[in-house]
Amino acid sequence: MLNLAVVTHRETFETMKGPLKRRGVLAKYIDAYGKAIPISERYTEFPDVDVGFVYPSRLMEGGVIDSFLEVPWVNGLESVLLSRNKGRVLAILEKNGFDIPSTIMISNPISEEELIEAYENVQKPMVIKPNSATRGLGIVLINDVDSFEGVVDYIKLVQDREETGDRSFLVQEYIPDARDYRVMVIDGEYVGAVERRFKDNYSDGKKWKRNVHRDAVAIGVEMPESIIKIAEDAASLLGINYVGIDILANEERIVISETNARPTIDKEEKYLPCFYDKLAALIEKMNKCY
Ligand SMILES: Nc1ncnc2c1ncn2[C@@H]1O[C@H](COP(=O)(O)OP(=O)(O)O)[C@@H](O)[C@H]1O
Ligand SMILES: [Mg+2]
Repeated sequence: MLNLAVVTHRETFETMKGPLKRRGVLAKYIDAYGKAIPISERYTEFPDVDVGFVYPSRLMEGGVIDSFLEVPWVNGLESVLLSRNKGRVLAILEKNGFDIPSTIMISNPISEEELIEAYENVQKPMVIKPNSATRGLGIVLINDVDSFEGVVDYIKLVQDREETGDRSFLVQEYIPDARDYRVMVIDGEYVGAVERRFKDNYSDGKKWKRNVHRDAVAIGVEMPESIIKIAEDAASLLGINYVGIDILANEERIVISETNARPTIDKEEKYLPCFYDKLAALIEKMNKCY
């Protein structure tokens, strides 16, 4: 039996532990936050494990936990940092010929003229989003320059605090009438996808942000070859072992909007039957390569 430290959402741990156990991987949950971890004495409360499943999202605690566990990670620090930087991921994808929403990164503090120039260079309506946050936090749709400046004022207020660390944000073309897919790729291979749809049809046309944490549900769907190829190629290019590639697809385009190196695992039946075989094989491979 291989021992796996799982440092991700509890629900994902609960979902994955059964299927992995049947494939020889014993998942153990690590509660990483909201506790005291002695550093000067050897902390013995962490279980003995062979591989870690996704580097912790909070890098300070993550660094300490990583040094205690001393394991190879399915998605280490580098992958987690890369996917968190939406601007960087989009830049790499664009350079390599993938279609992405037209996007400008704003680095604060920026002059009024340059800001307005950026506004004018992105098609309206446009989306303003944090460069690094997730779960749809702070993402707004903008139709006019006054609202644009108002939102930017708020961002400045927040980012003026030095502790924020990140003083950038993205302005991005809005992809209309798009289906919103999360395509899962493990070790370069497509293993299934979900489509995010609104819980009630009432929201269609009235709301536009499909976040499972808010109004959307994830439904297992089949993907056409064209999307599978885009997702697999993007995963290989970025070098992220276990990744959710977020795709917005409408009549005209298939664009990658972001990637996630710590994607939630949904119910088994939403993915291809090979999902857990591939995941277990990847975990074993990480253990052997270490
Ligand atoms: N450029 C865009 N065009 C259309 N819809 C978008 C765009 N950007 C984000 N959205 C909508 O908002 C949701 C959240 O945005 P996303 O960039 O994926 O951020 P998060 O990291 O919060 O998931 C997406 O799933 C999608 O429904
Ligand atoms: Mg997303």
